[in-house]
Amino acid sequence: MQKHYYIKTYGCQMNVHESEKLAGMLKSLNYEETTNMADADVIVFNTCCIRDAAEQKVLGNIGAVKKLKKQNPNLIVAVCGCMAQEDGRKELFKEKYPHVSIVFGTHNLHMFKDYLIKFNATKQKIYDVWESEKEINEDVDMYRTSNNNAWVNIMYGCNNFCTYCIVPYVRGRERSRAMNDIVSEVKSLISEGYKYITLLGQNVNSYGNDFKDGTNFAKLLKTLANLDGDFRIKFMTSHPKDLTDEVINTIATEPKLSKVIHLPVQSGSNRILKLMNRNYTVEHYKTLIKKIKEQVPNYFISTDIIVGFPHETEEDFMATYNLVNEVKYGGVFGFMYSPRTGTIAEKMDEQVPQEIKNERVNRLLALSKQIIKEQNQQLIGKTMECLVESKTDDGYLATLDNGKNVIITSNKNLTLPTFKNVKINSINRNKLVAEFCD
Ligand code: SAH
Ligand code: SF4
Ligand code: F3S
Repeated sequence: MQKHYYIKTYGCQMNVHESEKLAGMLKSLNYEETTNMADADVIVFNTCCIRDAAEQKVLGNIGAVKKLKKQNPNLIVAVCGCMAQEDGRKELFKEKYPHVSIVFGTHNLHMFKDYLIKFNATKQKIYDVWESEKEINEDVDMYRTSNNNAWVNIMYGCNNFCTYCIVPYVRGRERSRAMNDIVSEVKSLISEGYKYITLLGQNVNSYGNDFKDGTNFAKLLKTLANLDGDFRIKFMTSHPKDLTDEVINTIATEPKLSKVIHLPVQSGSNRILKLMNRNYTVEHYKTLIKKIKEQVPNYFISTDIIVGFPHETEEDFMATYNLVNEVKYGGVFGFMYSPRTGTIAEKMDEQVPQEIKNERVNRLLALSKQIIKEQNQQLIGKTMECLVESKTDDGYLATLDNGKNVIITSNKNLTLPTFKNVKINSINRNKLVAEFCD
């Protein structure tokens, strides 16, 4: 009988892409995907531990499949990802979640296929979390699920140790993929018809630093932007301390590079940035924003912000608020600071009370919402490039490279997906209404 898998993914794009690798391994063992958890023979939880709320959600969901395991004793429940990699979690799953059969971490994700084969043969539970990273493994099956967009890892890990962040502890040190491997993967994705290729790394701007041979992110971008084909390159995330003029200039001048720049600022107060170990000042950050705005046509800048970091006063918060108002971000991901075990910030005194965090994040998100509304209005009359993706009764649905939806009324005959220039005419419930320029 056909066996099925169900993968539940938490956290960032890195994890979304890694779930494509998990799916690839499951497919190679002849499992098929199901969208109904209750029908699955294997359920995989690919977890995140960036904030406590993320972890509580994961634990609640893993707890809830206990009843499925009761109904179907042959069900295999596997847990992997950042939370599985965290100190003490392997033991927690062993002791408190006996319905979980396989636990593995971020450094041994490529071993999942072997674990599954072994478990099916022996029925012995497997708890294998490698302590540290090994060499990059290029030999992984992948089952891509993201329509016109394909994710490509360019580097793994993080060396920055921002004082609030658990990622360096659960993802290990920075390791860049060889440029040749990236280029050949991107080439084959283009020939398969992918229109967007999104390069992934915790800090894409430090790509290549570990090779110490002059390889850098700007070179990688230039090489990819000059490949043949009809595609666009996206990338995330950029760290302000490493975003060079060369990278900004490359984004500005290469037509095949997306103009979306996600540049997390975290705080608008120098005192807090220092406590966060971010290694840049607000002044430096503003200089970068100025350069982007002056040089990059149709730029779209978004950011991440943490409110309620230890010692954050109302004055510090207002500095952040005012920065958001000044930069006028196209998107703000605002988070309430969540203490993570083992990080430096967790041990800082003067933690900010929860009610204040709530109130600050709400104030910030209200401001951002207002800015986005105004920005959408300013798009009216502009010509923008979009990816036309699907046909409707009287036209097409498309997206801008920043993800905004566009509705186009047209009786044109197009082969989809395709990039087209459109003129934005109006806004209807957050969707842009546009017409083709040619
Ligand atoms: N590597 C990326 C993003 C990593 S995590 C970068 O450096 O920008 C995504 C976002 O989660 C971070 O930008 C930060 O805003 C937020 N974050 C990380 N740790 C957090 C914590 N302990 N509490 C609240 N938010 C956190
Ligand atoms: Fe975390 Fe900072 Fe690394 Fe981003 S750069 S993953 S916020 S430690
Ligand atoms: Fe991503 Fe969460 Fe891990 S944000 S890197 S999945 S801790």
